[in-house]
Amino acid sequence: MIVVDARYIATATNVDGLPPPAFPEVAFAGRSNVGKSSLINCLVERNKLVRTSNTPGQTRGISIFRLELKNATARATIDLVDLPGYGYAKRSKHERKSWGPMIEGFLEQRVGLCGVVIIVDARRGVEEEDDQLLEYLAHIGRPTLVVATKLDKLTKSERAPRLAAITQQAGIKPLGVSAETREGRDVLFARVLELADVGP
Ligand code: GTP
Ligand code: MG
Repeated sequence: MIVVDARYIATATNVDGLPPPAFPEVAFAGRSNVGKSSLINCLVERNKLVRTSNTPGQTRGISIFRLELKNATARATIDLVDLPGYGYAKRSKHERKSWGPMIEGFLEQRVGLCGVVIIVDARRGVEEEDDQLLEYLAHIGRPTLVVATKLDKLTKSERAPRLAAITQQAGIKPLGVSAETREGRDVLFARVLELADVGP
């Protein structure tokens, strides 16, 4: 499948504020500034669909982006969901307190959600909050994919040991990617389509 159109649909701070699910959804979660929004842009092959920033805490609400896809014989539509990052100490107390219920509410209640991509920094590996999220997703039974991003920041010889460490920490083999060089993009895209149960 290739992306023929990608557009922004809506942002909200809780499930009730979002339009009802219309298409299979795959959500992107991870620490603040890890590169969630950049990775969505890389996947949809639009540089500026989702706002990214050097400053952590850029994405504050839950945002939905709709992708129209096609291949030689079929068409499909899927929604990608950008979630605000966790672990950003400089958020206000109120924001930090509301993050848990906002994200957990979405992950638990959203009917159209087919899977969750947890993004970790390839250099830092699985940190405490990633681990909590992995456990939570296993607990509520959501299919999960682990992605190690910013692979371009590692040397060739650093990669295998870092990825092996993440496999050990997460209990799932991560997919190594870079939004910067687009390495791993096609494999990740195929896995996202699989999660959404859309053909190749
Ligand atoms: P929040 O919305 O604040 O949670 O951040 P985010 O996870 O959406 O991160 P975002 O995509 O905004 O990227 C944060 C910073 O990391 C930006 O400066 C990006 O340019 C940079 N970045 C993202 N992905 C990569 C990557 O694969 N390689 C490199 N070198 N930099 C990246
Ligand atoms: Mg973001």
